[in-house]
Amino acid sequence: MPLISWSDKMSVGVAALDEEHKQLVELLNALHDGIQAGRAIDVLAQVLDGLVFYTANHFRHEEELFASTGYPASCEHKLEHDHLTGQVMEIQARLQSGAQETLSYEVVNFLKNWLFNHIQGSDKRYGPFFNANGIK
Ligand SMILES: [Fe+2]
Repeated sequence: MPLISWSDKMSVGVAALDEEHKQLVELLNALHDGIQAGRAIDVLAQVLDGLVFYTANHFRHEEELFASTGYPASCEHKLEHDHLTGQVMEIQARLQSGAQETLSYEVVNFLKNWLFNHIQGSDKRYGPFFNANGIK
């Protein structure tokens, strides 16, 4: 059973970005399932590889939209992206220097916070601005 099920309440009002945010939910659920199945370390390595790829592409996509629309809160938002990217890199470095199972629980909490604080907070705030600029 997935830890988090996507609901329309999580939508930021831009279809392409919602699809990308769903990928983050999938990574979170994959890690949760891996822990439940007793395969935390194997799945954690895969999830972090996916997360590094995801972070680079997804944040670039949002930041391109900030630039093309002149989004006024882009500086603060990019700082959050830089902080999240730094955390992903730090977690990956720790995994490579010998993972412990506790790291997988830490990453579940990290991704939940990302979903509920960044996506449901800062990301939701750009929705009306993007919509007003024709991005839906
Ligand atoms: Fe964002």
